[in-house]
Amino acid sequence: MGSSLSMLWNSSNDNVIDPVTNLSGRQKKLVQNTWSILKKDPVGTGVAIMIAYFKKYPEYQKLFASFSNVPLDELPNNKKYQAHCLNIVTALGSVIDAINDPPLMEASLISLGERHRRRGQTKEQFDQLKAVILEIIGVSLGSKFTPETRDAWNKTLDVAFECLYKAYS
Ligand code: HEM
Repeated sequence: MGSSLSMLWNSSNDNVIDPVTNLSGRQKKLVQNTWSILKKDPVGTGVAIMIAYFKKYPEYQKLFASFSNVPLDELPNNKKYQAHCLNIVTALGSVIDAINDPPLMEASLISLGERHRRRGQTKEQFDQLKAVILEIIGVSLGSKFTPETRDAWNKTLDVAFECLYKAYS
């Protein structure tokens, strides 16, 4: 009885669309469940994202004073670099954790956006990183990155980055 009630609750929740983010309950769950896999190795996830980003846009490494001159192949083992990657994954994790509290999600993203805007980072740089994040999440999840999970992540990142861009308007 208990388990059928919980199945009923879970499946009925799946179709509930969040009026603020437009994400369905099922999409939120797909993102949270796959994030729980990625966050088991936060440094590895962050390193994979940022290496792919710097490979694609090598000029952006120069923006990071503490590892701007470290050769790309030495970056994964560089502790200052790892610390920054961990910062990024922690910030992304706070967004996913706040997926059911859109105003909290928005507040933390606007303040992240403001700090970056003040330092000179552009919306274009964020857009480029967003595409790399989606790509690396896909690579890391392998067969778990089904088309449905990809859509859920894509939508979540769109919502999150739109919040962040409010710092630029
Ligand atoms: C998902 C997107 C991003 C997240 C979650 C993120 C997260 C962070 C965090 C948590 C910090 C440290 C605290 C702070 O100053 O805010 C930081 C610093 C920084 N970020 Fe980002 N960031 C993102 C995108 C970018 C992009 C696109 C760029 C530029 C290409 C960038 C460049 C920097 C720089 C230059 C710093 C300062 C590093 C230093 O301390 O020297 N970030 N970022």
